[in-house]
Amino acid sequence: MATRIDGKAMAATISARITEETSALKQQHGLVPGLAVVIVGEDAASQVYVRNKQRTAEACGFHSVKHALPATVGEDELLELIDSLNGDAAIHGILVQLPLPGHIDETRITQSILPSKDVDGFHYVNIGKLTAGATRDAFVPCTPAGCMLMIEEQLGKDLSGKTAVVIGRSNIVGKPMAALLLAANATVTICHSRTPDLAAVARGADVLVAAVGRPHMVGGDWVKPGAVVIDVGINRIEIEDGGEKRAKLTGDVDYDAAMEVAAAVTPVPGGVGPMTITMLMSNTLRAARLQHGIDA
Ligand code: GUN
Repeated sequence: MATRIDGKAMAATISARITEETSALKQQHGLVPGLAVVIVGEDAASQVYVRNKQRTAEACGFHSVKHALPATVGEDELLELIDSLNGDAAIHGILVQLPLPGHIDETRITQSILPSKDVDGFHYVNIGKLTAGATRDAFVPCTPAGCMLMIEEQLGKDLSGKTAVVIGRSNIVGKPMAALLLAANATVTICHSRTPDLAAVARGADVLVAAVGRPHMVGGDWVKPGAVVIDVGINRIEIEDGGEKRAKLTGDVDYDAAMEVAAAVTPVPGGVGPMTITMLMSNTLRAARLQHGIDA
């Protein structure tokens, strides 16, 4: 039986350290990290994510601000808000929750955030640094950053000689995940919906990252014996429970089947999700320090 990678526990440990460092930053420099989260519309999943981000920011001792805008808001009005947050000295990190309504150009929005406040790591300046291998200099997107820490915990920082397969090529997860694995010296393959025989490619992976958004797509027969499996999927499915239907969160990986084959697997929930939020706090603390020229 494989190891269950406890993302929740790991995130709690890192959050505790961030809370301590935030307290020291306040005492020594009178500086409070500030995070602004912008949400547009009523998407239920986004509301939950934003609430969790705010709650964690407050628990870390941050100054936390939420801007909730109606789904009908114009792109110009959203750009004006970001402009004012860019110029707000109390705000060190800005996150605009995605997806945005169809009439708003997501790229225009993400590229309007100052790279120094881009704690999501979506600005081209940060993407450029990451893909150029300047990972220490970049704000790295939170989900792949969290995945990488969990992989490091299992295999160490140097993945020389290891093969890594990332299923999914999104800008939020797949592409930055591949860049991080490459920076750690893994031999990396990115797969997607047009890849023939995904299962065969996945079976070659010492590190398998699934980020496709299809419940249980990765079966036990997709997993190489002894692999580390990271499940980024958060899918809401309906199950029968005592004759009643209820919603349940599940990953892209068939967890029970993968646990029979792999060396280590992240569960859903309790794996990647909590680590993503903690990496947002880590990026925000770092942004505050960098904007004030304070070394960690
Ligand atoms: N929507 C889903 N994941 C993310 C994320 O990491 N950042 C933002 N801003 N929106 C998201």
